[in-house]
Amino acid sequence: MPLFDTHAHFDAEQFDEDRDAVLSALPESGVCLVVNPGCDVPTSRAAVALAEKYPHVYAAVGIHPEECGAVTEADLEELRTLAQQEKVVAIGEIGLDYYWEGNPEREVQRAIFRRQMELAREMKLPVIIHDREAHGDTMAVILEYPDVRGVLHCFSGSPEMAAELLKRGWYLGFDGPITYKNARRAPEVAAITPLDRIVIETDSPYLTPVPYRGKRNDSRYLPYVVEKLAEWKGVTTEEMTRITWENGLRLYGLTELEKV
Ligand code: NI
Repeated sequence: MPLFDTHAHFDAEQFDEDRDAVLSALPESGVCLVVNPGCDVPTSRAAVALAEKYPHVYAAVGIHPEECGAVTEADLEELRTLAQQEKVVAIGEIGLDYYWEGNPEREVQRAIFRRQMELAREMKLPVIIHDREAHGDTMAVILEYPDVRGVLHCFSGSPEMAAELLKRGWYLGFDGPITYKNARRAPEVAAITPLDRIVIETDSPYLTPVPYRGKRNDSRYLPYVVEKLAEWKGVTTEEMTRITWENGLRLYGLTELEKV
């Protein structure tokens, strides 16, 4: 049963030593599809290059809220060009991050987030949203673009926010932290999320699940996320693997390309 890692950063420097070995080995370890999002223009370019090189890798292009401080019109123009490449399946990751003190001004973050929501609408692509400690403002921007859909990556909001998003056709992404002992909201959110709206992610090289927490993450640890979700939803791991594979295809519009 193939696994779909809907969010992993294999362009990250943590993979500089062994990127090709790790990526080449994924299909034989069961991870048959990966979406690699960008976080700025250079990493978006890198994501597209990885997608061109590996048949099982697709790309998303976007500017992460932590990287949006010095974005120029030329950067946004290049993003538009990248978004038209054949294996680009989403705009991301984009959004708001109010957690770190040193992050760009909130006003700037919101402006760049909106520009990329507009790009997604224009390109008819789904979005991958990063929301950290910015739930209210993230939701407000989402509501401004009712025709744009996508996934709330590593969802950390309340069950109420989840319900609002689910009503509007969004997907919720679950990662390694759901395996941590202190996962409190995630089980509540999973409980109200229909099976057909759950996608699995690693956010490699970050967010490594138990029992490898603290080490570099890669897509091969995805089964730990699947096991936890299967337990919470009362289905078998095989069933959860199949459902999240189909959800990933539907989220990124790959249904026509990849016959299940
Ligand atoms: Ni990420």
